[in-house]
Amino acid sequence: MDQENPKETLAAGERVLLVDAKERRYLLTLAAGATFHTHAGIVSHDDIVGNPEGSTLTGSTGRSFLVLRPTLADVVLKMPRGAQVIYPKDLGAILMAADIGPSQRVLEAGVGSGALSMAVLRAGASVLGYEIREDFANRARSNVAGLLGPDADYHVELRDVTEGIDETDLDRVLLDLPEPWRVLPHARTALRSGGILLAYLPTINQTAQLRGALDDGPWGMADTVEILRRTWHVEARSVRPDHRMVGHTGFLTTARRLVG
Ligand SMILES: C[S@@+](CC[C@H](N)C(=O)[O-])C[C@H]1O[C@@H](n2cnc3c(N)ncnc32)[C@H](O)[C@@H]1O
Repeated sequence: MDQENPKETLAAGERVLLVDAKERRYLLTLAAGATFHTHAGIVSHDDIVGNPEGSTLTGSTGRSFLVLRPTLADVVLKMPRGAQVIYPKDLGAILMAADIGPSQRVLEAGVGSGALSMAVLRAGASVLGYEIREDFANRARSNVAGLLGPDADYHVELRDVTEGIDETDLDRVLLDLPEPWRVLPHARTALRSGGILLAYLPTINQTAQLRGALDDGPWGMADTVEILRRTWHVEARSVRPDHRMVGHTGFLTTARRLVG
């Protein structure tokens, strides 16, 4: 069944999310006869198969679990990781900042665990990834195939992007690596005029260095943002921001390739 357009009942081979009473989430792939062990008891996969998502089932200790198909954000947070992933709050902003859409040709480096790749592919673009570590390249490939199947428009090459980009006429170049300024000379020849470069960086020192390099052209409309997400505790007599939040993840810098 198509995971991206799920209407039918849950079937063996599908990925599902179990949510317990404390809102702990568990990602599993349904298999006939299998069991899943959690802090709150054992769940039989056969009790899930054949039910619609949104069902509640009872585990071995009598505790209940909600069963849903996972969202992309659930998958990103729960999937096997090699490298640190970009978090969903930033993935959403990247899609908008880099204006990712159908039929675009996107170069992404490095692909790490494939979280950004998944978001870009789901938005309808094709992705060519450059990655210097074979284990990460394999991890990204298998994570993407797990979400979108083997036919996703996704190709990862084992390459150092600072040594050059073979492609030309790219619509977007997305960089999540430590020294994106070293990629600018290559991105300049690989991107079509008007195309968008986006770099994701954890520190403002790196971001300032990138912004300085962009000033040398032919780049314009440079912009840097940081996304702050504050969750709320909502109960009848207590509605307030949560006490804890993720204080910092990274800075998003975009620029347009100009004629020149
Ligand atoms: C933080 S991870 C990327 C995570 C990814 N954006 C995700 O959401 O899953 C950075 C990746 O860049 C790769 N990398 C670092 N320098 C590189 C280079 N010069 N060329 C290609 N890949 C590179 C690393 O091996 C690592 O996998």
